[in-house]
Amino acid sequence: MSIRTPATQQASLTKISEGLFQRARLVIPDGVNRATVDRDPFPDYAGWGRGAYLYDVDGNRYLDLNNNFTTLIHGHAFEPVVEAARRMLKDGTCFSNPTLHEINLAELLCERIPAVEQVRFVNTGTEAVMFAIKAARAATSRPAVAKLEGAYHGAYDWAEVGQTGTPADWGMPEAPAAVPNYTGQPRSVTDDVVLLRFNDAEGARRRISDNHDRLACILIDPVPSRAGLLVPDQGFLAAIVETARQYGILVIADEVLNLRQSYHGASARFGLSPDLICMGKIIGGGFPIGAIGGTRAAMSVFNGRGGRPLLPQAGTFSANPISMVAGHASMTAMTREQFDRLERLGDHLRARLQELISKYEAPFSVTGSSSLFRLHPKIEAPREYRDAYLTKSEANAMRQLGRFFKQHGIILPFAAAASLSTAMGDTEIELVLETFEHALACEELSL
Ligand SMILES: Cc1ncc(COP(=O)(O)O)c(C=O)c1O
Repeated sequence: MSIRTPATQQASLTKISEGLFQRARLVIPDGVNRATVDRDPFPDYAGWGRGAYLYDVDGNRYLDLNNNFTTLIHGHAFEPVVEAARRMLKDGTCFSNPTLHEINLAELLCERIPAVEQVRFVNTGTEAVMFAIKAARAATSRPAVAKLEGAYHGAYDWAEVGQTGTPADWGMPEAPAAVPNYTGQPRSVTDDVVLLRFNDAEGARRRISDNHDRLACILIDPVPSRAGLLVPDQGFLAAIVETARQYGILVIADEVLNLRQSYHGASARFGLSPDLICMGKIIGGGFPIGAIGGTRAAMSVFNGRGGRPLLPQAGTFSANPISMVAGHASMTAMTREQFDRLERLGDHLRARLQELISKYEAPFSVTGSSSLFRLHPKIEAPREYRDAYLTKSEANAMRQLGRFFKQHGIILPFAAAASLSTAMGDTEIELVLETFEHALACEELSL
């Protein structure tokens, strides 16, 4: 199959993808298996990936800033991961017995992440969040969860509430409404979720105190991506932890996406000291994974000492050896030096994007840190979900920008974090900057 470079790529050269989508829609509702798949007007079906680039089935090449929603920190088909998985495949893909490989990955995480003394592995970030919430309930005998408005934590019912509020239903700033995530979500679920607003320390203190006798945990992503890839103000995370400790409420850091913030993870970087940490994405090297880690005390609910624990946790594919060896290979290659290099690339990219915004006096801002960034069609960088919420015309501007990037051979995620990988360098950063500048200068776009 011939490979088209971005310069020769045309939107019309997507015939095979278009045909596949027609087939898919007959047998898969909406044609895709994830609500988050870009299908404007149909998805580009992936053929293969190498390093920073993804090739679709029509032979178009894209610089992949999605990296499977920030999972692929080394890009596609990273050789040490391929090799580790290949060796494991020959020995068997899953056993009812434990393996050495789960101990290796658990040791690596315990060594690196300060709040993690012990770990249990599951298969997805959703499961990690679910078991962390259940662990907090088991430890406190309380049912309710406090979480941040607009933050995405996967598909466990309580973790989904308040994820998609709009100005029509999100309620007063001092009492954000527990907006259900789907029609029919039980009242018993929404009643047990207390929403807080990011960077509103006083509001959070008040809401936690008012509900303290029923709260098991506060679930917080220190840099929530879908809520705006927001950066926490100094003092906000400390206020959350201090209030939680006062009432014996557990703090759960959701680092499924943000573990890539540093060698020691996101909580360590932003000064959060959680009881439990949810992990996923990068720790599986591109294979399905989730993990719940935490202090020995918080993790003791999983420990039955040979009998039934307070919280039983199983799963047919939990700690499957392929994910374990792939994750170990990927994380081992993520040395301190690699984290530093990615951080420098990210700093450079964000600073230059900001320079372009100023040069063109464009109504944009950029948020993020380390290897993550997000462009907002807003003059002021958002500090909370309500600031980051896209009006219809803003969503339209972002869609146009995404299409423009795609036509120039770059996948830019919509309303989510874009991510760098170790497979990227100055060439890729320049390509992103050039494309953004073209978009800002392009009179046909109404950005
Ligand atoms: C912060 C956060 N938590 C949880 C999840 C759910 O992880 P998974 O998709 O592996 O179930 C995600 C996924 O994007 C996430 O970003």
